[in-house]
Amino acid sequence: MTKHILVTYATRAGSTGEIAESIGQSIAAHGFVVDVTPVREKPTLEGYDGVVIGSAVRMGQWLPEAVEYLKANQAALKAMPAAIFTVHILNLADDQTSQDYREGYIAPLKPLIQPVDTAFFGGKLDTKRLKFAERLITKLVKAVDSDNRDWDRIRGWGSGVADKME
Ligand SMILES: Cc1cc2nc3c(=O)[nH]c(=O)nc-3n(C[C@H](O)[C@H](O)[C@H](O)COP(=O)(O)O)c2cc1C
Repeated sequence: MTKHILVTYATRAGSTGEIAESIGQSIAAHGFVVDVTPVREKPTLEGYDGVVIGSAVRMGQWLPEAVEYLKANQAALKAMPAAIFTVHILNLADDQTSQDYREGYIAPLKPLIQPVDTAFFGGKLDTKRLKFAERLITKLVKAVDSDNRDWDRIRGWGSGVADKME
């Protein structure tokens, strides 16, 4: 029987949603039926055989609605394969310090989910799409607009996740 997979994500400026769509397409290419839905819509996990959950990082943390979603769905998450991805723009390098910082973004999730796979993806900073307060923060830290999304890597990860959900 065809398996159903949910890809759900939390975003502020849209780049995580585009990554979620790409992951969804990679999983669908393996013959799964895939829904890609924002976490703010609180999608039920009923009827799904696996789930991928992703969030943008703001101020060193997953967005609160994504963490809430993990908390609210703990029983269902224990009963199906779940993978997580994190979208961010700092600490993208391979050195130990960057890796430690990245791991710090998801450390608070450890009691909530035991993922079959975990990924960190470079995101996109587009200051035009930010609210005033956020734009101010990016100005203060002198962040410049950039798109770090590696679509081959994102597609490859989605494909690997599909293999783990078969
Ligand atoms: C106000 C603000 C705070 C951010 N804080 C972090 C951070 O602490 N660490 C990091 O790696 N990236 C940080 N970022 C970068 C975002 O995670 C990145 O731009 C991501 O692609 C945003 O996803 P979205 O477009 O789905 O909202 C921050 C971006 C903004 C605008």
